[in-house]
Amino acid sequence: MKAKILIPTPENIQLAARAIRNDDVVGMPTETVYGLAGNARSPIALAKIFNTKERPTFDPLIIHVGPEVKSLKDLAQLHLIDENQISTSLQNQINLLMKEFWPGPLTFILPKHSEVPDLATSGLSTVAIRMPRHPIAQALISASGQPLAAPSANRFGRISPTTPQAVAEELGDRIEWILDGGSSEIGVESTVISFNENEEFCILRHGGTPQEKIERVLSQRVAFHSKEKLQAPGMLESHYAPAKPFKLLPCQLAQMSFVEIQKFLEELPFGNSPVGLLLMKGDHQMGSRYLEEAIHRPIVSRVLSPKGDLEEAARNLFSYMRELDTSSAVLLLAEPCPDSVGLGHAIQDRLKRASAR
Ligand code: TXA
Ligand code: MG
Repeated sequence: MKAKILIPTPENIQLAARAIRNDDVVGMPTETVYGLAGNARSPIALAKIFNTKERPTFDPLIIHVGPEVKSLKDLAQLHLIDENQISTSLQNQINLLMKEFWPGPLTFILPKHSEVPDLATSGLSTVAIRMPRHPIAQALISASGQPLAAPSANRFGRISPTTPQAVAEELGDRIEWILDGGSSEIGVESTVISFNENEEFCILRHGGTPQEKIERVLSQRVAFHSKEKLQAPGMLESHYAPAKPFKLLPCQLAQMSFVEIQKFLEELPFGNSPVGLLLMKGDHQMGSRYLEEAIHRPIVSRVLSPKGDLEEAARNLFSYMRELDTSSAVLLLAEPCPDSVGLGHAIQDRLKRASAR
């Protein structure tokens, strides 16, 4: 293992910032998930990000800016966006959203400034921008003196990391430094929002900022764009995937009869080996016992939130998926998220993609 996990002292933040100024990439904590950060203005650093992640270059990156940015005007002044391509009324609405949700887990897709390297945007005419609220991310952006491009710090298609250790598991042999910012507070990526020619907003990726909250601020409904158009390749069907087979149950485990469970598992090859179980809420021993009685296999289980709190569930989602993936279980089962409010959309989206193979 090459990577060192750095306590975020001022000296270590300077060290990481120096690496970034030298076109290197570093593991950076954010409130959503850990990112693999590099200078957004440097094609060399951008190429390193894609290489390190083995990410296809058709999947564009999010550029992270510091809290000195207050509005679209500031982004234009930083030569990140071309605000002339956005009507005044739309600018007002976007500024309103920025005021409400920045710093935080909301990413805007905006017309790009010509100076933004094509590699950051995969050749698109738009650029994705967000302002993280994690203090270490903010400190790193400020010390680097540049906006930072940062995709989630996992190998392409795999589970996003929410701890420095998870970054080390994913990329530890390929990067030098990971700043330790503790466990990610939110646990799922930012919500990605865009708008169309008719100036209607649409969500391209559900994430840490719930749709209803955005709708409340705009006083209008916002559409969700599923995968008809591949506008956000994070919308790729299979993503966030464990290495082991991962199956989404059709409903909550307790609602399935033994016969239904056995039928569901019939086609799945798992012999006598343990099965992993990711439960939404309640008592993990009860869930384990029920499944064990149904299929007569040892069960390894985790409960995302015993009391059914969606924020707690989101926070635990990727780390529990990772734990089950490295457990003795050879096949992983997950309950679907029963709630389609708040972070429920983002959780269900990640579960569906993780199981889409
Ligand atoms: O919370 C987050 O957003 C995390 C942390 C590290 O900030 N970052 C993250 O980055 O999730 P990444 O690269 O894993 O996801 C970026 C998403 C992808 O779905 C990408 O397709 C989409 O943003 N995206 C980037 N630029 C875009 C653009 N110009 N148009 C549409 N989608 C874009
Ligand atoms: Mg990602």
